[in-house]
This record gives sequence, structure tokens and C-alpha cells, in this order.
Amino acid sequence: MTDFHAHLLPAIDDGSDSVETSLAMLDIWRAQGIDRVCATPHFYAERTTPERFLSRREAALQALKAAGGGGSKGPEIRCGAEVRFFDGVGAAEALPALCLEGSDLLLLEMPFTRWTDRMLGEVAEIRQRGLRPVAAHLERYLDLNPGQTIRRFLDMDVLIQCNAEFFLSRRTARRALRMLREERIHFLGSDAHNVSSRAPDLGPALDLIERKLGPAAIDRLLALERLAEAR
Ligand SMILES: [Fe+2]
Repeated sequence: MTDFHAHLLPAIDDGSDSVETSLAMLDIWRAQGIDRVCATPHFYAERTTPERFLSRREAALQALKAAGGGGSKGPEIRCGAEVRFFDGVGAAEALPALCLEGSDLLLLEMPFTRWTDRMLGEVAEIRQRGLRPVAAHLERYLDLNPGQTIRRFLDMDVLIQCNAEFFLSRRTARRALRMLREERIHFLGSDAHNVSSRAPDLGPALDLIERKLGPAAIDRLLALERLAEAR
């Protein structure tokens, strides 16, 4: 199973603060049976350029690999980015380079406001370019953006990523399971940042999903992972 959203690369954003932390995070994923982790550092267009971001990401990856991370004992690391929405994102030239490696999936962090038609238009523009936007941690927007907006997202062929915490929190678990059952969630991620307050927790979420919805729900998530292979 793949963790589609994680801040595991060392010292590149507010996630892992060191190679040691990254290695400890990888140990947790391995113990949970997660075989692939997408490294998705924050990309803020107003703070950096795509070129600078990609070269820092590569340096962080190499530092981690030099210490044994991402090796044969797993999990495999696949690089991507969590692109914060910005004005003009729909037409931004660099988007293909910010997609999850080897795929056309672009993890997009939407604004924490009620989305406007203009914002949704930019997302549609990304899709029209042949890329597939993946809405990061969609559960954080559910109250800001009631059902109809989410429906519009799905109608635009935007994929939905939710965090493991959505399933693990007692307050939201029922809603999370219902959305998964209704096929309104495509990818899961831990959005892990460290080994304490925001540690990798996809394994327990998958256990809960299997217990509550049965193995078919896990099989469906595994089948959806193939979307990450198409380019
Ligand atoms: Fe994140």
C-alpha cells in the first residue's frame, strides 16, 4: 500500500527536521507494512522557484539515501510535491515537473477558504492540460465547502486524497468511512511530519478500514494506485 502524502524528506519544509528523523519515520512505515511513500514537500510559489525546489528536493533525497533510506528494505520513496494553490496555478509551466514522479498526478493544497468559481476554474484548467489534480487532505475543507463543491470537484475528474487521521479520529471516522464507501476518496496519506505529534499513521487507518468495510475496500484502494502509474 502507498502513502500518498508525507513530509519525510529531511530539512526541506516543516516536516522531518533531519536524516535521523526521516529514517525513524521510514522505520514506522515499514513496521506498518507500507511499501511505498510519496515524499511531498510543500511547494509555495511565492517563496521559491520550481527549479530551486526540485534541486533542494533532490539534495534531501540523496542525503536520506546516503544514510540508507529508501533502500531495499523499504519502503520505496517516490518524490512529488504538495503544491499550495496560487493565482495562475492553472497555467503554470512548471506543473508537470511538480507531479508525482512518473505520473500525471498533482497534489494540490486548496486555500482554506470557501472556494470561488475562479479557483475551481484554475483547477479545471489543470485537468484540461491533461494533468490530474489530487485534492490534498480534502477532509479539512468539508465544513468550509459543503457537499456540492466537493461534487463539482469530482465532476471535474479531480481525485481526492484524505489523511489517515480523518479515519482515526472518533469525531470524523463515520464520515470518513462513508465517503470511502461512496467512492469519494481515491488516495490515503498520513501527511506525516515527524515521529511524535504527526507520525506516520496510515497502517492503523488501513486496519480500521478493513475491519469496518472489509477487504474489498482495501482492494479498491490498491486498484486505484494504478492511477499513479499512468502518464
Ligand atoms: Fe501536507
